[in-house]
Amino acid sequence: MHTHTLLAPAKINLYLEILGDRPDGYHELVMILQSIDLSDQLQIRSNGTDNIRLSCQHPEVPLDQENLAYQAANLMIKSFPKVFANYGGVDIYLDKHIPIAAGLAGGSTDGAAVLVGINLLWELGLTLPELQSLAAQFGSDLPFCIAGGTAIATGRGEQLDPLPDLDNLWVVLAKSKSISVSTPWAYQTYRQQYGQHYLPQNEVRQSRTHQIHSGDLVQAILHKDGPKIAQLMHNDLEKVVLPHYEPVAQLRKTLAAAGGLGTMMSGSGPTVFTLCSSLVEAQQVRDIAQTNLADPDLDFWIARLTSTGIQVTP
Ligand code: C5P
Repeated sequence: MHTHTLLAPAKINLYLEILGDRPDGYHELVMILQSIDLSDQLQIRSNGTDNIRLSCQHPEVPLDQENLAYQAANLMIKSFPKVFANYGGVDIYLDKHIPIAAGLAGGSTDGAAVLVGINLLWELGLTLPELQSLAAQFGSDLPFCIAGGTAIATGRGEQLDPLPDLDNLWVVLAKSKSISVSTPWAYQTYRQQYGQHYLPQNEVRQSRTHQIHSGDLVQAILHKDGPKIAQLMHNDLEKVVLPHYEPVAQLRKTLAAAGGLGTMMSGSGPTVFTLCSSLVEAQQVRDIAQTNLADPDLDFWIARLTSTGIQVTP
């Protein structure tokens, strides 16, 4: 029986601005999302049963409905019941490399890979936009994870405008093993603390979105200007996560002092990253930060910015 193998890259946020509330309970955002080559690997094949069977060696990865990979398979079953009746259930093996609950869209990218994998396995022939609109049903980051690369994301994060590739840059990522941040908590806390500053009307929000589209950070990305990109990076969620999680604030400070182009928290954290202009610079930043912190609770990774989303490997 044929097995499809997929690579599912993580993402970082080069920019995250919260514009306001939405009637669906989510937030209206403007983000610039960027894929990095720190990836999970998934294998998907038909199992001849009526069930989805998910396996993963990582002890903290849920193997049921809680997992977005499982939810993605379920969505495909619900969306294409006749094809499911023909092909049957799927076995999904997840080889986890992206840290979980880290602000790197690790769960979303696994879900995206399952959609792409089942599209191939069941020979559905769904196009990229069709897969992305299915993906948007159960995760704001999933449509981006399918296509990957560099993109402006608006709405809940599911409306995408691709930007040119930025694969000349590297990142050092750092995360405390013992800290994970709940994304709903981060957004709810932001709403409590900053809700009074939310932009009221759609027109005002749209004009802010246009400002970002034609703004300096997008120009810097078009020119692949690493130092300028680093200088203009921003994440509103830092305002609630850093004061609440002192070790994350400390880690961000130490990483920033270790060199590189600029440092920022990704998504709702707690992962922080430093943008670097080369692999050698990234290794130096990691070594300095590791020596200065000397904390066994910390994990470090080095990754390259990449222009690809979910990739099917031979
Ligand atoms: O879409 P996703 O499941 O990744 O979002 C996780 C949580 O983050 C949501 O339940 C919501 O609390 C918050 N969120 C938000 N506005 C967004 C995206 C996420 O409030 N645009």
